[in-house]
Amino acid sequence: MIVCICNNVSDRKIRQAVDAGMTSMVELRDRLDVGTCCGKCHACAKRVLRECLEEASRAQPMMFHRNALAA
Ligand code: FES
Repeated sequence: MIVCICNNVSDRKIRQAVDAGMTSMVELRDRLDVGTCCGKCHACAKRVLRECLEEASRAQPMMFHRNALAA
């Protein structure tokens, strides 16, 4: 799905950006130019970003158990 028509940015590109470590609209704007023309895509891009971040956080395994810090 195209999120930003002006700059031809798809939800797939946003997902790839999140996978590469981006976590904010500022980063998406700077890297992908999302919302830098008419700005009508901002709300949709923000929603896609949030969904991608939620999916990424669910997919991340715990790095270590909480009790490991107490040792
Ligand atoms: S649709 Fe994204 S800047 Fe116009």
